[in-house]
Amino acid sequence: MDKLLLSREKINKIDEQMARLFAERMEAVRNVAKYKAEKNLPIFDASREAEIIERNSALIKDEGIKAHYINFLNNNMEISRSYQAELYPELVSGVLYEKDNFKKIRVSLQKDSYDIFIGCGLLSHAREYLKLDRKVLVLTDSGVPTEYAKLIADQCKESFIYTVEQGEASKNFESFRAILEFMAQNRFTRTDCVIAVGGGVCGDLAGFVAASYMRGVDFYNVPTTLLSQVDSSIGGKVAIDLDGYKNTVGAFYQPKVVLIDPETLLTLDIRQVRSGFAESLKMATTSDAELFELFESGEYLNDIEEIILRSLLIKKGIVERDVNEKGERKILNFGHTIGHAIESTTSLIHGEAVALGMLFMCGGGVRTRLLPIIEEMGLPTETEIDVEKLFDFILRDKKADGDSITITFVNEIGKAELRRLPIEDIKDLIDPSIYGGIQ
Ligand SMILES: NC(=O)c1ccc[n+]([C@@H]2O[C@H](COP(=O)([O-])OP(=O)(O)OC[C@H]3O[C@@H](n4cnc5c(N)ncnc54)[C@H](O)[C@@H]3O)[C@@H](O)[C@H]2O)c1
Repeated sequence: MDKLLLSREKINKIDEQMARLFAERMEAVRNVAKYKAEKNLPIFDASREAEIIERNSALIKDEGIKAHYINFLNNNMEISRSYQAELYPELVSGVLYEKDNFKKIRVSLQKDSYDIFIGCGLLSHAREYLKLDRKVLVLTDSGVPTEYAKLIADQCKESFIYTVEQGEASKNFESFRAILEFMAQNRFTRTDCVIAVGGGVCGDLAGFVAASYMRGVDFYNVPTTLLSQVDSSIGGKVAIDLDGYKNTVGAFYQPKVVLIDPETLLTLDIRQVRSGFAESLKMATTSDAELFELFESGEYLNDIEEIILRSLLIKKGIVERDVNEKGERKILNFGHTIGHAIESTTSLIHGEAVALGMLFMCGGGVRTRLLPIIEEMGLPTETEIDVEKLFDFILRDKKADGDSITITFVNEIGKAELRRLPIEDIKDLIDPSIYGGIQ
């Protein structure tokens, strides 16, 4: 009994010391969290945790308790992480708050990292977020209300607004060449910059111009369509089309900053808004069952900014893990293999074609849930197209890789898989019985 009491007494003393040390440790953790919040660093740092375990477990000589000690360290680090998350919830969600309640998402790509700022009225604050005290080419198109490009241009030291015709056809060599010539004639140098003000067409074209002019000048993206705000402005894919084949000539070129002002959507045609929702629905279907349920509930219309943020966070995660689309990023092509072919051979716009394309690339259970959402969004669920023509297009589209093709298939909401198929098998997927319209 005395022995038991003595041991317990010893444990009590050790616990007292440990309580003091615990409080000290948590104070240090609080400082670390503050630093991470300022620098927008993630809470979880795998290499730091591995280092802690390696260094400290070496201090335990008794092999019989080493595994327990490692367990103790792991618990400790888990407590630290949850304390940091409690102090700075934005570190977990990935959304940080800026002044004027603007939000910020950091895309971490080492030297190519950049910030995306989101908030109503942000366009008027462009000079606070972009470096505009130099020569600036503001690229827009004829369908974008002129005041947006002007609002940006007015904040620059020396600006040139260049307007291309609205529509996919402007993503071509002629526009590309004309813009480069315009920049050369106006003596743009490597330290000047290009800003896209418009939808995905402006963003893709301006980004490719910026990537090419003098081997690369700074590129800022100010997306003004829902599609470009949820999808095309993040990830660094810039391109033009070649002979009607989409995005055949392009590069991976990251913007320096992206400014998203949801107020610009107020002037956007409803068909374009739906097209943007289609890309967000694509991300939900492949990667986020919760977001999918939000679409299913119909509540998504109440808070477009929330849809933009959630879509960006999905894409940010995927792009950070696979920036050059070697693997995982291919899942974002869900609906695009057939969608691009539909877009290029019918009068449907991008998101509409992608919505249709998704229906072919999922299991029956997923399709049953997807179809009513697409209908409810007002997106088309049928179109007339020649399967042979579509197949011929896919054969020549850059997505085909020799005799095979990698497609993204979704059998369970929120979980996409990449499947490599002999190219001929695509024909079996373009099953006209899926819905009435395809012939
Ligand atoms: N780079 C990527 O990762 C990526 C991803 C998805 C799509 N894309 C590309 O994006 C393009 C489609 O982009 P999109 O859907 O934005 O089309 P878009 O750029 O053609 O814009 C659609 C229409 O809306 C008009 N518009 C733009 N902003 C407006 C506003 N605020 N108010 C009123 N009208 C406005 C435009 O003038 C245009 O007529 C395609 O070329 C597609 O290949 C690229």
